[in-house]
Amino acid sequence: MSRSYHFFVLGALFCLAVFNGVSATTAGCGKTSSLTSGVKTTTINGKQRRWTLRIPDNYNTTRPYRFIFGLHWLSGDMTAVDGGNAPYYGLKALANNSAIFVAPDGLNKGWANSGGEDITFLNTIRKEIEDNLCVDEKQRFSLGFSYGGAMSFSLACSNAKDFRAIAILSGATLSGCAGGNDPIAVYQQHGVKDSVLPIDSGRQIRDRFIKNNGCQAKTAPEPARGSKQRITTVYDGCKYPIQWTAFDGDHVAMPDAAGNDAGVNSWTPGEVWKFFTQFG
Ligand SMILES: *[C@@H]1O[C@H](CO)[C@@H](O)[C@H](O)[C@H]1NC(C)=O
Ligand SMILES: *[C@@H]1O[C@H](CO)[C@@H](O)[C@H](O)[C@H]1NC(C)=O
Repeated sequence: MSRSYHFFVLGALFCLAVFNGVSATTAGCGKTSSLTSGVKTTTINGKQRRWTLRIPDNYNTTRPYRFIFGLHWLSGDMTAVDGGNAPYYGLKALANNSAIFVAPDGLNKGWANSGGEDITFLNTIRKEIEDNLCVDEKQRFSLGFSYGGAMSFSLACSNAKDFRAIAILSGATLSGCAGGNDPIAVYQQHGVKDSVLPIDSGRQIRDRFIKNNGCQAKTAPEPARGSKQRITTVYDGCKYPIQWTAFDGDHVAMPDAAGNDAGVNSWTPGEVWKFFTQFG
């Protein structure tokens, strides 16, 4: 076979790899990074912002890792997401060192995102991490409970193209939505008796992404109060998957069947992880 034929085949394979996203990795791949796990600071709009970085054990500079933002709730902070009995909403244990986890701190223990400053913050630290560490650009995620769900929603509005999926646990539209018309995979769960952010706020977010993803309309049944049930609806015909779970419970991040906060024993970490890892 001729040399040019070989170049043609190699070139075609290279293009395939690029278009399949096989080689969609960040600038930090192959670099020996000076970034280490722990608390970092970054200045945005003259304000010093803090964030916690968790690099996987036995970090391999050429392996493209998942990237996961864990965003805290109102009155919570990065330490609460990074610590406790279920770090990163239980995903850190399930990830088995396949993901770089990042817990940023909001301002005043929330995510008001005034003038988009929290989006700027998240994009700035993501760039710093990706310039230094090896991230799979097709495997970026964000999740959070309550205000952290609202901020993940805001990221899905402004940065849908950068993220593979987001998970909103009992969220609302508290952090604004710049853009908000692009398709993206969304996992949502919400308690039918949520007394802080009523379930209708979750339904509104869901319906926006049903539209953005071109899904077929479908009735999403919700369990009765006191039934100790949860009902999951997966929509059909969507560009990217949309999954909605209504559960018998109040404003709880990681509920058990009775709607009580159960941390690692909740069904939530497993369901979110299954949703995030369906993409490979
Ligand atoms: C590091 O990751 C690369 C790419 O995924 C892989 O080929 C290699 O075997 C890994 N090295 C080790 C020591 O695991
Ligand atoms: C975790 O990852 C290691 C190394 O890739 C692998 O050998 C092990 O089987 C994994 N454990 C689980 C529970 O998936």
